[in-house]
Amino acid sequence: MNYELLKEKYGTPLYVYNVDYMVNVMKQYKENFKSDLFETEVIYASKAFCVKEMLRLVKREGLSLDTVSLGELATAKVVDFDFSKVYFHGNNKSKAELICAINTNVGNIVVDNLMELELLEELLKDYDKKVNILIRLNLGVEAHTHKFIVTAHVDSKFGVLYNSCDYLKMLEICKSSNKINLIGFHSHIGSQIFDLEAFNQAIKKMVIICKDFDYPLTLNLGGGFGVHYTDEDKPVPFNEVSKFLINSLETELKNNNVSIKRVCIEPGRSIVAEAGSTLYTIGFTKRTPNKLYYFIDGGMTDNIRPALYQAMYSADIVGKEKELKKNVVSIAGKCCESGDVIIENILLPEAKTGDLLVTYSTGAYGYSMSSNYNKALTPAVVFVEDGNDRLVVERQTLEQLIMREI
Ligand code: LLP
Repeated sequence: MNYELLKEKYGTPLYVYNVDYMVNVMKQYKENFKSDLFETEVIYASKAFCVKEMLRLVKREGLSLDTVSLGELATAKVVDFDFSKVYFHGNNKSKAELICAINTNVGNIVVDNLMELELLEELLKDYDKKVNILIRLNLGVEAHTHKFIVTAHVDSKFGVLYNSCDYLKMLEICKSSNKINLIGFHSHIGSQIFDLEAFNQAIKKMVIICKDFDYPLTLNLGGGFGVHYTDEDKPVPFNEVSKFLINSLETELKNNNVSIKRVCIEPGRSIVAEAGSTLYTIGFTKRTPNKLYYFIDGGMTDNIRPALYQAMYSADIVGKEKELKKNVVSIAGKCCESGDVIIENILLPEAKTGDLLVTYSTGAYGYSMSSNYNKALTPAVVFVEDGNDRLVVERQTLEQLIMREI
């Protein structure tokens, strides 16, 4: 990747994605997540990084799509995504969102709670059509990850607890409605998970639930597969993740004498994280009694993850990768906020103003969680494929930044 050239062409801060990497991961998921006992489906969780060109890639590679908002649905619409392959999530879907899902024939609505199902049933009275739903279950399985990205502890805002009153009422509604087709269940236990045992626990519970039904269900296991940010992260290779899940499912199905129709996974981070890097230009450097800062021309506005989750990243000074890393540095952004530090205490060589800094593995939940705090501009995004770069999102302009203000 010629980062210097990309800086010359597009400026900084800049998100750069390696398309070949993403295509390879998608292919690996598709090839390895297969079984003779049930159909399989790989769904890209678009919240990780949702721009038109990304969704075109997902479409080209034949994956399905997880969406959670009108914005993500609209992005899918403009690239002509096949809506029968769209899953629509959300714990507090609005009337407008549900109506949009019904009107656009979204293939599967993942219903999060009892009130949502009641609203959906009410709305469907005006339609002469049937919708496929999955019920999002809270299986009470806790994955070991940051507390903000754990989703399945018993008090989670997501999903309905199995066998709770709400769950039983939801089954009643599905049984009595001729417009709602309950095709199966969904569970997402968390994100950036390294210990696959948590998935095994979730699978065991879901297979038992299938016994309550006299038709083969679809089970959606969610996403959450961990990736490498720094050398402390030891993710399980994607093909092994797929094989683990398939083995676990096949074993549980056989042990319980249950058959199912289809199993889905919903990876987001693992498809895009390591494909992405962010380029920044170093401005001033500063020594304090205990620290050395390199200041960059972006920060928490283009990557909130360090401030929000204490997320760690690795980085290099472009062109100085082989130089002695003699300085312990804090990479701080431009925001009026002491917590605006992208990397704390990283070993880097001596840098000077104008040097180019690259942070690695920023492809997931970086651009998609970017903000205009301090009225910073949202960065541009470039895709590099077969050695050729193309702009896929323009840098926001000052005019665009303030155009909606009256
Ligand atoms: N399916 C559902 C229902 C989800 O809620 C999520 C992520 C995924 C799939 C994809 O999970 P992944 O494979 O990307 O881990 N902003 C946080 C991550 C929040 C994840 C939310 N849900 C972060 O930057 O780490």
